[in-house]
Amino acid sequence: MIRQLQKDEEIPYDLLLLADETIEAINRYINDSEIFIFEKDNETIAIYVLQKISDYTIEIKNIAVDTKHQGQGIGKLLLRDAIARAKAKGFKTIVIGTGDTAPKQLHLYQKVGFEIFDIKKRFFLDNYPNPIYENGVRLKDMIMLKIELR
Ligand code: ACO
Repeated sequence: MIRQLQKDEEIPYDLLLLADETIEAINRYINDSEIFIFEKDNETIAIYVLQKISDYTIEIKNIAVDTKHQGQGIGKLLLRDAIARAKAKGFKTIVIGTGDTAPKQLHLYQKVGFEIFDIKKRFFLDNYPNPIYENGVRLKDMIMLKIELR
């Protein structure tokens, strides 16, 4: 079941850290966002975070599935839930960003309908103090994708 995490509940940083490098980076958006969790047998096994960017646009800032439960369709389920929720809230656009070294994520986002519209050059060089390597390649740019909701 997917439900919104309430303000008085503990934030599952362990899951958020699967998708973002540092707690500092997460804390830049988490208090200003809505958190949705996926629970199974009373355990939180997946998460996504929505942040309003403007009256028209909302962004998925973080999406993560516990490593034991990846590759079973939960990520796709969460993305579809986020898209439906953004639409129901009346937003015109939903966006998501991913590193330029993450083909699996890019593929997944494109599969549920996201299209690339921008590349934030040097995003990971300018916003993270330590170099980040993914698949043996230094992460530099953020690929931005969006869906126009109607
Ligand atoms: N290898 C290649 N492609 C894969 C794999 C794999 N091992 N697993 C999933 N995929 C792709 C496939 O295209 C799959 O589509 P298909 O089911 O039609 O074949 C698609 O992803 C969907 O797979 P799901 O099972 O729904 O994905 P999952 O539940 O594993 O969630 C996620 C995907 C969220 C990326 C998860 O793997 C994860 O938590 N990764 C670590 C954190 C992360 O990288 N988060 C995204 C960072 S960007 C951001 O947060 C905005």
